[in-house]
Amino acid sequence: MTGITLLGSTGSVGRQTLEVIDLHRDRFQVVALGAWGGHMDLLQEQVNRFQPLLVVVGEPSKAKGISLPPGTQLLTGIEGTVEAATHPKAKVVVAAMVGVYGLTAVYEALRMGKRIALANKETLVAGGQVIMSLVKGGSGELIPVDSEHSALFQCLIGHSREDVKRLWLTASGGPFLDLSSEEMSGVTPEMALAHPVWHMGPKITVDSATLMNKGLEVIEAHWLFSMDPSHIKVLIHPQSIIHSLVEFKDGALLAQMGPPDMRVPIAYALGFPERLKSGVKPLDLTRCPPLTFQAPDSKRFPLLDLAYESLRMGGTASVALNAANEVAVEAFLQRKIPFLQIARVVEEVLRGWRSGPVNGLDDVLKAHKKAQTLARELIKRLC
Ligand SMILES: NC(=O)c1ccc[n+]([C@@H]2O[C@H](COP(=O)([O-])OP(=O)(O)OC[C@H]3O[C@@H](n4cnc5c(N)ncnc54)[C@H](OP(=O)(O)O)[C@@H]3O)[C@@H](O)[C@H]2O)c1
Repeated sequence: MTGITLLGSTGSVGRQTLEVIDLHRDRFQVVALGAWGGHMDLLQEQVNRFQPLLVVVGEPSKAKGISLPPGTQLLTGIEGTVEAATHPKAKVVVAAMVGVYGLTAVYEALRMGKRIALANKETLVAGGQVIMSLVKGGSGELIPVDSEHSALFQCLIGHSREDVKRLWLTASGGPFLDLSSEEMSGVTPEMALAHPVWHMGPKITVDSATLMNKGLEVIEAHWLFSMDPSHIKVLIHPQSIIHSLVEFKDGALLAQMGPPDMRVPIAYALGFPERLKSGVKPLDLTRCPPLTFQAPDSKRFPLLDLAYESLRMGGTASVALNAANEVAVEAFLQRKIPFLQIARVVEEVLRGWRSGPVNGLDDVLKAHKKAQTLARELIKRLC
């Protein structure tokens, strides 16, 4: 039995991870479940069904009232999350929480040589340098769950990096692909949360609408595959059937295709190198809509270029980009700022950022807090 710690079990990726685990109960045992505490009824149901050894509630005040089966222990806060991620019985840690919250837990689990099935892109966007030096120098492994990175990971297997010319990340383009900037100025949270293809948590859904999600993925790909940003390209592909492509120096392109369903990359990361049943309906290519591709429009979606810019700046600049975006998206969802000001907040924080070196996790966490404060001050002024 492979023991699994699932952080973010009540979220979109977390719930789908449990669906995949449910298909393989003879193979996987849930060691720990973790969430923030926003959906305690769901967490209670999951605890009853999977009977984990540990339950972690990020916000201690939310943990009151949970009823635990005999033998299950309740933990809270970041310390509890780290304990769950480093539990001796957990071989795989699924990082499916949102934001940089899980960075310390991922870091400690890698130090203990665990496999991280990484959905949480903010971990690499903010902590890429620190996390990848641990992966390269230790026995832990990182298997991407983000569908684009899972696609690239699969296409790269068996190929020498010297043969790779470019990585192509595909993007659905989100719900506002064809809107003018003027039309986008009136976008409400309800409109931004209605993604045409993927059903995801609110933060990543807004990031998809601004194309910041793709910017974060460029940074994630840079760290994961040691690829210079100038060799990482973005392609709008609204049907989301091709999940990403690798272009080789001989002109060949390898693509990974499949239904737009996160259970496929989740099953891949849990079973790697074996392929497991994921529960998805097979894709009937004869019934697929025509596959189309176009270049992203960086004028209407400036956050994508800002992500590249943060990589050029180096040091803690991507930490600042990510933190400012987290704060701005939250403010938009709380109707404090309009949609188009998300990009303005991120741009202003990044333009004023003095990027320091990253020598360890502390530098990342400090820079994250500092950029959050700057973004909050800016939003207060804008309000
Ligand atoms: N959804 C997708 O299809 C998809 C695809 C690729 C990558 N990703 C990435 O995967 C991550 C999760 O996305 P999602 O869409 O599943 O998000 P989501 O639906 O919003 O779920 C987030 C999960 O994280 C937990 N959480 C939030 N803040 C926390 C905190 N401070 N402490 C502990 N737990 C916390 C939530 O707990 P509560 O329920 O208690 O609030 C929930 O379980 C993100 O980084 C996203 O970018 C998602």
